[in-house]
Amino acid sequence: MRINGHLLTKSVLKKLSHCLKRTEASVIANLVFTDKEFQKIKRKENKLFSNYPVEYLIGQCDFYKYKFYIQRGVFIPRPETENIVEFVLDWLKSKKIDSAKILDLCSGSGCVGITILLECLRQGIRASLTLVDKSKKAIATCLKNTKLHKINAAVIQSDLFKHVKGKFTVIVFNPPYLMPNEITGSLQYEPRRALVGSKDGITLYKSFFENLPSFVEDDFLTVMETSEALVPKLITLGQKLKLNLRLIKTESKVAFLAVSSV
Ligand SMILES: C[S@@+](CC[C@H](N)C(=O)[O-])C[C@H]1O[C@@H](n2cnc3c(N)ncnc32)[C@H](O)[C@@H]1O
Repeated sequence: MRINGHLLTKSVLKKLSHCLKRTEASVIANLVFTDKEFQKIKRKENKLFSNYPVEYLIGQCDFYKYKFYIQRGVFIPRPETENIVEFVLDWLKSKKIDSAKILDLCSGSGCVGITILLECLRQGIRASLTLVDKSKKAIATCLKNTKLHKINAAVIQSDLFKHVKGKFTVIVFNPPYLMPNEITGSLQYEPRRALVGSKDGITLYKSFFENLPSFVEDDFLTVMETSEALVPKLITLGQKLKLNLRLIKTESKVAFLAVSSV
């Protein structure tokens, strides 16, 4: 069997390489497949040649400079979310903080919190980590990822702060914030509850803002991700609640906001 070259996007190539247990270079060099390989391709045809996410097929994803386990039913980390890691690390450095309690709320795979912890440890900052998600599958994936990276973390299944105790130096928050009409293409394969928060888009942020003061230390930073479209509503909400909320960056329609002690 010979495959048509035009079907070979980067993602298809990665999927084929995984499926056939051949390197990507070997797939490119030889687009003629044995009968056995053809049978394998046939069995997975729908996933291989559609926009089914490659991460679900291979059970793995990249975030920052680390690998994480991922499975169907758990949100796939996006590269722009790496901004959160950078903001947090810059803040810890600028404040010369040598010990930090980190909370990753709506943790999904745990990639953000785990990456911050790993980078803190690498830079000689003592840190503890709590990962929180409402989804059972996300919690199971977080546990697998803490084992993968050989770290200790409290992993809690909770609706936002409901089962969380203690005060934190850093809270990162990337809740679902898309509108239902934005769920198209490969997004349809991801869990809806990880993508769409509420009709108005801000209900989860409102609850987060209202509870925030009870869960932060005197010197703290919170970084959250949202869509650019929600920023005006969130800034108004922050002002109403007298939070020091500010926009720190926007990148391809994704916005990052921070609340900090100063
Ligand atoms: C956009 S994903 C972000 C995942 C991860 N932080 C990342 O950046 O890759 C949102 C996550 O929030 C979780 N979630 C949704 N509603 C929640 C709630 N009320 N409390 C806790 N977690 C929630 C979803 O299960 C999902 O894992």
